[in-house]
Amino acid sequence: MSKPNFTLAEGQPVSDPSISTTLPTFGGGAYTNLGDTLLLETLAHFNRERIPERVVHAKASGAWGEFEITNDIRALTSAKFLNGVGKKTPVLFRLSTTGGEKGSADTVRDVRGFSVKFFTEEGNHDIVGNHIPVFFVRDPIRFPSLNRSHKRHPATNRPDWNMFWDFHTNQPESVHALMHLFGTRGIPDSIRRVPGFGVHTFKLVTADGSFRYCKFHFRPTLDITHFSGPDGTRMAGANPDYHNQDLWNAIARGQFPVWKLYVQTTEPAQAETYGRGLFDITKVWPHKQFPLIEVGKMTLNKNPENYFAEIEQAAFSPSNMVPGIAMTPDPMLQARMFAYPDAQRYRLGVNYTQLPPNRAICPVHHPFERDGSATITRNYGGEPNYVRNSQSRGAPGQTLADVRHTERIQQNAALGQNELSVGEEDFVQPRELWNRVFDETERRQWVSNVSETLDELPVALRQAVADMFSKVDPRIGQMLAAKASNSSHL
Ligand code: HEM
Repeated sequence: MSKPNFTLAEGQPVSDPSISTTLPTFGGGAYTNLGDTLLLETLAHFNRERIPERVVHAKASGAWGEFEITNDIRALTSAKFLNGVGKKTPVLFRLSTTGGEKGSADTVRDVRGFSVKFFTEEGNHDIVGNHIPVFFVRDPIRFPSLNRSHKRHPATNRPDWNMFWDFHTNQPESVHALMHLFGTRGIPDSIRRVPGFGVHTFKLVTADGSFRYCKFHFRPTLDITHFSGPDGTRMAGANPDYHNQDLWNAIARGQFPVWKLYVQTTEPAQAETYGRGLFDITKVWPHKQFPLIEVGKMTLNKNPENYFAEIEQAAFSPSNMVPGIAMTPDPMLQARMFAYPDAQRYRLGVNYTQLPPNRAICPVHHPFERDGSATITRNYGGEPNYVRNSQSRGAPGQTLADVRHTERIQQNAALGQNELSVGEEDFVQPRELWNRVFDETERRQWVSNVSETLDELPVALRQAVADMFSKVDPRIGQMLAAKASNSSHL
């Protein structure tokens, strides 16, 4: 195949892109000139090569793949990509750490983001989840503060355990997520072995408009394994891109990682008496009560050809939902449905949906959002740009937009700052995790992982941490105290 000739960005021929145009003087000097478009464009484009990184979840790896239905759930949802055993849907996958910047290390203790974009015949559907089943806060207004407390201190510009524990001890609804974070799963050893949780409660809606509440879970077919704290730290120094390399090489070798997708469901009548754990993302739905129903499997089979174009420019959002799956009265979910497209308009520009990793594969007709920076379509030509016009080429579609949601507003509800305050109920599931899921080795490991972060803390804050975890189990406080007195004797 003949090689393409080098050109400028608008196609004008260039003889050698590595030589600028000069007027030589004596002594090896030269004058450059403003007429050298090649030089000016090369430097100007370089200055604009970086875009804002994601404000959270900046460090990531990604790949393309496919999702295949293994169990038809049309009795639960009309979503076409979830109907018909054997049906395949292309997907884009992105796995990230949360707190670190784009160049930070992979093998740190952190919550992993687990994002999947399904390119369906009814538009894009995104599951933008995490690798642990619960989250730290349940009021979205706390999300920016949560993340600042995990990132860099405004004065020292270093991560700071004082901020971290100050935030969490003052709003202990995060205790369940903290139990997971400092457990063994806090440092996965491979992206291929990481589970994914949709975390929120969604609705699965059938063609007749009836619905069930549901949660989504991805499970890797490989065992879920992890690094110990010291191994993770060592690897973060030796190969900060270890997870990326592991995923990339496995796909390049043809060892395609596979996850199974499951749902848990609840009937609306059952949901009404379930209590506040129904929509509260600091809680799980116990598997015994809500067994996993298999839906399909996701296989990653293609590395990106260009990371920036395909993964950095990807825009995942919980607001991308297809008919048959719907939102619920979880304020966190509703806030996220605003926050992601808003972040992407800032990060990628208002026409980010036209970029290759975000472009729907089904026909799109939305002439009432047009123009704006960098549109790359024909921008609907001369079609009317106002609704209720007489010449539109668009026709009303058949959607489930008019599903009747049955969540009733509480009797005597009043608009106001209605905090779900922290109570005994918030410690029940963390206690189960500590007593029934962790074994003694993991309990000791957990205490050791937390202890390492407490060394520099003032006594009062260290005590507040012990007090918070003692409400999960008094033994945790005792073990933390014993650990502290041991290390102070060293
Ligand atoms: C009110 C709560 C939350 C807010 C306001 C929020 C906001 C954001 C924002 C602004 C981004 C960057 C998006 C971008 O630039 O493309 C992001 C990324 C992300 N968030 Fe959240 N988030 C929230 C809670 C959560 C929860 C509960 C989860 C998991 C269940 C989660 C998982 C993720 C993931 C996986 C990404 C990376 C998406 C990607 O791969 O591009 N977030 N979040």
